[in-house]
Amino acid sequence: MTVELAPQPALAPLAAPRPLIFSGIQPSGIVHLGNDLGAIRNYVMLQYEYEAIYCIVDYHALTSTHDAALLRRRTREMAASLLALGLDPDRCTLFVQSHRPEHTELMWLLTTVTPVSWLERTPTYKDKIANQPDDVNHGLLTYPVLQAADIVIYKASLVPVGKDQAAHLELSREIVRAFNYRYGETFPEPQAVYTSAPVVLGTDGVKKMSKSVGNTIEILASPEEIRKQVMSMVTDTERIKRTDPGRPGVCNVCQLHRFFGDDYEEIWDGEATARTGCVDTKKLLAQRITERYAGARERYAELMAHPADVDGILEAGADRLKPKAAATMAEVKEKMGLR
Ligand code: AMP
Ligand code: TRP
Repeated sequence: MTVELAPQPALAPLAAPRPLIFSGIQPSGIVHLGNDLGAIRNYVMLQYEYEAIYCIVDYHALTSTHDAALLRRRTREMAASLLALGLDPDRCTLFVQSHRPEHTELMWLLTTVTPVSWLERTPTYKDKIANQPDDVNHGLLTYPVLQAADIVIYKASLVPVGKDQAAHLELSREIVRAFNYRYGETFPEPQAVYTSAPVVLGTDGVKKMSKSVGNTIEILASPEEIRKQVMSMVTDTERIKRTDPGRPGVCNVCQLHRFFGDDYEEIWDGEATARTGCVDTKKLLAQRITERYAGARERYAELMAHPADVDGILEAGADRLKPKAAATMAEVKEKMGLR
């Protein structure tokens, strides 16, 4: 399913319960453009239409990050980033995964309906084995079961994510079907919700923008840093001279302009006819990204100067979710013969 920023979806009738949406994000560094265009802008928009729960998944991050101080710092930074980008604690619930112990408790129960073969064939597991061969910990294998538990503990039916999460979401649905088949209808099958930019390429123009690849544009970094990252972008590799016509369809810089301003066709034409050079197009993109996120950058600095406020929002979020999580655990335990 794709959700565009405009037009806004129609409001549900007042009497109908609003579908519940859930998403998780790893506290693994400063947010990048791929996170925002691919997922976070949907988090922000959907909080106005749905009951929305957003989780900073520190348990998931433990599968790759083993430095306690770093994880603690990044968890707070991620919370501040999400709030700065527009999550409103009065409109959604933001919390940290490890603050709600029911997630891992439910995960264990779900592992018992999940064949190991499903986990071994997950593409992200295969990638991780290749990327961190010295640290193929069990958490990497079980990762998608914890993700399924995150979603279904609140019986969420919609999950805003980038396209890289498609396989995880499919696995969540399979786990739900396996559980419902064995113990009776309990959980809804969650559906992914994509933006109009479900895969944002990195500065190399080849791979998905990702912290682990190091090809990111960090949207809350300083204007100088953003400029440096944008200027390092690989454009059309066949455009050698300034006077060569470019191929805007394969130029990542031109493609990103689609999301920054309403003159995309003009930019496309300028590049295709060699009226504009790659450097000009990059400078303009850096300027627009800097401007777009200027307010968020200020809010981020403000929030990081008041860490107790951020921690308070996260604690209140986890507290608010307790009754829902406890109710699901009670129901599941009853169905599974645990009480
Ligand atoms: P992560 O940083 O891997 O926890 O990702 C957080 C959210 O951003 C997830 O919903 C991802 O699917 C999404 N995301 C991450 N990188 C990209 C990208 N390059 N393009 C689109 N979405 C992305
Ligand atoms: N695996 C997701 C990622 O890397 C993070 C995540 C954990 C998640 N639990 C989730 C996403 C539940 C959506 C729903 O980005």
